[in-house]
Amino acid sequence: MPLVNTKRMFDEAMKGKFAIGAFNVNNMEIIQGIMWACKEKQAPVILQISKGARKYASMRYLHALINAACEEMPGIPVAIHLDHGDFDTTMKCIDEGFTSVMYDGSGETFDKNIENTKKIVERAHAHKPFVTVEAELGKLGGIEEDVVGVGADDVEKHLTDPKQVQEFVKRSGCDSLAVAIGTSHGAYKFKKAPKLAFDRIEEIGRLVPNFPLVMHGSSSVPQEFIDFVNSYAVLESKNKKMLEVALKQGWEQMPGSMGVPEEAISKASKMAVCKVNIDTDLRLAMTANILKVWGECNAELLKWIEGGKQGSRPKFSFDPREYLGPAREAIRDMVARKLDVLGCAGKAGLFK
Ligand code: G3H
Ligand code: 13P
Ligand code: ZN
Repeated sequence: MPLVNTKRMFDEAMKGKFAIGAFNVNNMEIIQGIMWACKEKQAPVILQISKGARKYASMRYLHALINAACEEMPGIPVAIHLDHGDFDTTMKCIDEGFTSVMYDGSGETFDKNIENTKKIVERAHAHKPFVTVEAELGKLGGIEEDVVGVGADDVEKHLTDPKQVQEFVKRSGCDSLAVAIGTSHGAYKFKKAPKLAFDRIEEIGRLVPNFPLVMHGSSSVPQEFIDFVNSYAVLESKNKKMLEVALKQGWEQMPGSMGVPEEAISKASKMAVCKVNIDTDLRLAMTANILKVWGECNAELLKWIEGGKQGSRPKFSFDPREYLGPAREAIRDMVARKLDVLGCAGKAGLFK
């Protein structure tokens, strides 16, 4: 199947009360892991590319990798989407083969955000083939490489105002809207379990019926993955003394991380939320499994040293395939889990 925009995806998601997963991609292992999960679950997917990903991998490589995945899995509808574009990058991506773009004008005034979004929409909708446009209204918390949000204590104050949504959508002509309903980017979202503003999703749904909403900052930061990173990050220390002190003090690499509960994501997916953005959980799954490979090597080495260096020296994994392979499988497993949470498993068949 050739790349698709998000119009049909969101129509089906709205009708069927599920959401499409939008996962950030930066390299081959991430793209393959995501696509394997989508094939296994028969789910449509949005592969999204940030400004940082464009700089890291370059679009020539990302396009080629995504095209290869589409050729290999023709039954899976795939959209290639710009994540958090500034004005110039968004304009550029419309002409660069993206099927969907996000212009993030959330740092602008209400009127300037509308004015810029409208210009993007005019260009994207005139493009052949039609490119869909996601806009943003309200401010999320947290910080990513190129996306700076409000501090954790200010998240509530910057939630999207449902009354503004109606005017924003009408004047800008955007196809979908990212709303701030209490989520936040990154691994350190909350100190205690958050309450999402479901009342705002409902009110927006009443004021702008059947209009697709997008939830950013939707990683759940599962505790078992934080524990996973913490345990192997300690083992990863090359300094035995530091390792002893760290273990004694219960030292953690990622203390106090907490995300959006998966039940809340499922609930929003059954409402007007048609696209759910997840990056951090994939980063965690990948990194934890790389640390595991090296952590296990180090643990074997320590055992061998402490045992008086009996027998042959344990092997150290320096072949990238030995740690990127498990990392890629971990991405696949994490995405498969998310596709179930979003209710989009088995929905690829709707696009035949
Ligand atoms: O919200 C942003 C995404 O997680 C991408 O992050 O800018 O570090 O690539 P990045
Ligand atoms: P997370 O940091 O919660 O994964 O959010 C990613 C995101 O919103 C990308 O736009
Ligand atoms: Zn985001």
